[in-house]
Amino acid sequence: MLKYRFPDGFTWGVSSSSYQIEGAASQDGRGPSIWDSFCREPNRIARDENGSVACDHYNRMESDIELIAKTINANAYRFSIAWPRVLPEGEGHVNPAGIGFYDRLVDKLLEQGIKPVCTCYHWDLPLALQKKHGGWQSRRVAELFAEYCEILGTHLGDRVDTWCTLNEPEVVLTAGYRTGVHAPGLMLDEKGVRQVTHHLLLAHGLGTQALRKSITRQGARIGLVHNSTSYSPLTESAEDISATREVFHCENSWLLSPVSHGVYPAELWRELDKNVPETEDGDLAVIATSTDYLGINTYFSTAMVSGERGEIPFEKHYPRTLMNWPVTPDTLYWTTRFVHELYGGKKPLMITESGSAWPDKPQSDNGTSVVNDLARIVYLREHLKGIHRAIEEGLPLEGYFVWSIMDNFEWSAGYEKRFGLIYIDYENQKRIPKASAEWYRNVIKWNGF
Ligand code: FCB
Repeated sequence: MLKYRFPDGFTWGVSSSSYQIEGAASQDGRGPSIWDSFCREPNRIARDENGSVACDHYNRMESDIELIAKTINANAYRFSIAWPRVLPEGEGHVNPAGIGFYDRLVDKLLEQGIKPVCTCYHWDLPLALQKKHGGWQSRRVAELFAEYCEILGTHLGDRVDTWCTLNEPEVVLTAGYRTGVHAPGLMLDEKGVRQVTHHLLLAHGLGTQALRKSITRQGARIGLVHNSTSYSPLTESAEDISATREVFHCENSWLLSPVSHGVYPAELWRELDKNVPETEDGDLAVIATSTDYLGINTYFSTAMVSGERGEIPFEKHYPRTLMNWPVTPDTLYWTTRFVHELYGGKKPLMITESGSAWPDKPQSDNGTSVVNDLARIVYLREHLKGIHRAIEEGLPLEGYFVWSIMDNFEWSAGYEKRFGLIYIDYENQKRIPKASAEWYRNVIKWNGF
């Protein structure tokens, strides 16, 4: 008897992104991205690592997809397209080998019975657009993003099941343009950061319209992937829940209110005063262009009680992952619920990323290498309970994607933080499915646990 059973047709997926796994940075006409140049700057990345080889997925795509089908049997795979592979200069000339790679990837997924879920932008902006326009500081880049989306829609839109316009605009603007810990490594003032925010939101809206126009697959869905800044109530008293919902709204509404309701929050606008971004008439209508679902990435939440905010002292004693993120399985339930109540309406929601990094090491078991990542199994099991509760309570949650299918280049933290269900030996590119891959495979097989 399964204690936690999921609805028929529930999407069980795995996630990745181009710069984190593909490598082949200058192969087949790929242009440089802002991450290639950022990684060359000393002390930006742990141990000065970079994504130029990564998991060499570009050269191993076919066997990697077969491995996903065989060892996990996921029914969906969320990958991202490297804009500079398709358009080496960010605009103009389309690189046939670049688009050809994604064409083969989509076909391979369909051949293996896996739904392609395609992210158009997971942070690897063509370097040419950074140099020429200052990246997302320029409105022009939002327009060029739409042109790029139209190219993707035209080439892949007959087969891709689900489209994600941007991955986590909040991380792009905070880490890329405010604190500078991600490419392009800028530290802009408030007004500059707000301008970048506006352009990212505009890119999402224009990109949605361009995809809508160019894709032909019936029933294909388009949406944004938002990384929620998450809070969970410490107790389930009505006061704690409503205080937590309020904080959640404060932290997420400046991105989700324009996307879902076509307005910037009035208090924020007042607070920003002379730092409000330049906008044009009609921008908010574009930003709020209707979408088919909302993707949520969440890794942990902060516990809240009414009348107080910030970290609750006993969170210090929570287990922490290798990222030093607390393990707070409630986050999936509460994030889904608050997003639904505040911004979702009837819109389907999907958890497009959830996962954990641990110091995984292969061991020999009678001469075979195994990775016993029990902490990841416990993490997944506890988090899936939150999803299950959300569904039981009628929230429109339709899918769950584990970050990540394989260990990869974790941005400024480099290769040490392993998030994968599949272990990568970077010395020889050997793939070793971890114990969690087998566990997840069983969850998918039984549609529960
Ligand atoms: C998310 C990113 C993803 C990965 C995970 C750990 O913010 O979207 O690329 O780095 O965090």
